[in-house]
Amino acid sequence: GLAQLVRRYGALPFSRCVEPALRLSRGFAVSPWLASQIRDEVERHPDSGAKLIAAIFSVDERTATGLHAGDRVARPALTATLRRLRDEGADAFYQGPIAEALVRTVAAAGGVLSAADLRDYHTVDREPLRTTFLGHRIFTMSPPSAGGVILVEALGALAAHVNEWNHTTGPMQPEYLHAVAEALKHGFADRARFLGDPAFSHVPLEHLMDPAYHATLRIDPDHVLAHEAYGSGPSGAPHQARDAGTAHISVIDQKGNAVALTTTINLEFGARLVAAGVVLNDEMDDFAPAPHTPDVFALSSGDGNRPAPGKRPVSSMSPTIVLGTHGALAAVGAAGGPRIVSATLQVLLDLLVFGLSPGQALALPRIHHQWEPDVLDYEEGLPQDVSRSLERKGHRLRRHPGIGKVNLILRSANGLDAASDPHTGGRPAGL
Ligand code: DON
Repeated sequence: GLAQLVRRYGALPFSRCVEPALRLSRGFAVSPWLASQIRDEVERHPDSGAKLIAAIFSVDERTATGLHAGDRVARPALTATLRRLRDEGADAFYQGPIAEALVRTVAAAGGVLSAADLRDYHTVDREPLRTTFLGHRIFTMSPPSAGGVILVEALGALAAHVNEWNHTTGPMQPEYLHAVAEALKHGFADRARFLGDPAFSHVPLEHLMDPAYHATLRIDPDHVLAHEAYGSGPSGAPHQARDAGTAHISVIDQKGNAVALTTTINLEFGARLVAAGVVLNDEMDDFAPAPHTPDVFALSSGDGNRPAPGKRPVSSMSPTIVLGTHGALAAVGAAGGPRIVSATLQVLLDLLVFGLSPGQALALPRIHHQWEPDVLDYEEGLPQDVSRSLERKGHRLRRHPGIGKVNLILRSANGLDAASDPHTGGRPAGL
């Protein structure tokens, strides 16, 4: 996918684009965020966690368990793979020694990936979803991701309520946060019923994107609705979510071109398998093998999201670009499983409704609701009068350590303004 983008739209050759990753693979300091992920992995899997970390960084297991923030690590096996990709091009990933290592590793773990799967892999181009909100043109990800569908549906449901919010107090007001939660519940309810890979089954986008349909999505300012009154469908069971396998970057260049790019290996160490230095994803978890079998993020889905050969799973990825009058106004997106959508939605509203800067938007606590389970997650810092008021409206509140990790960039009268999510310790670059 990356090679394809570079070939079509890039100003630099692919080999040059591989260089920064190649340099990084030769040595870097463990960040506090990575150190905490390593610690969790070792604690969660006493039998195999240290072995996995040792394999990723080519160290012994003792060193692996002792890794702290600030320690230097390298990924020599990945260096070899990246060098080959730089010299031979991206096709070297899908055939030859790298592909053989991937297939061997998956087979040894009891998986079903074949050499033909890799050889026949191809990227798929899909038209982004488009909507308008308060006069802004918004482009976001289409199925098989559910992210864009939920985002557009939520924006559509919220449009009728924008004037009910106090625009000077900012987003920390119960009327606004209640409306956001209710709008998300409508979107997530439809996700559970309708979403799947459109190459395999029909996703009724005309219906889900229709402003006339959005106008029927009820938000009662005083109280939550009955469970079945959201969107149009059933499913699920509660589950504690872990997230950390996703990365989102937002870019705007001097010409006003924008990139919103989300990539995911699902969980922090994917399938917990390493081949040719590459940590393999566990994207199979994003499929629903049977009805009422929630994934690690407690998401259940309908028949459209059953696994099948060659099929792509439903995702929450929500890379989004807002167009201004002269090129891109903003590029936004997040990591965080289903919380990707809630985080992206709230940050967009922070910019477009409340006129906040990227830094101000990312400093605010966020909320999340995915319809099932019937819980409203909130981050530390939500004012107590706001959380009490949300409870009075019928929400069941649960504190959550981090609702999405957003990286965004906005073009303002003063130039480019970018912010990285405080949860992961990243920084905007290149400004
Ligand atoms: O595509 C999806 O919806 C999931 N694979 C995303 C998982 C995720 O964001 C975890 N990380 N932060």
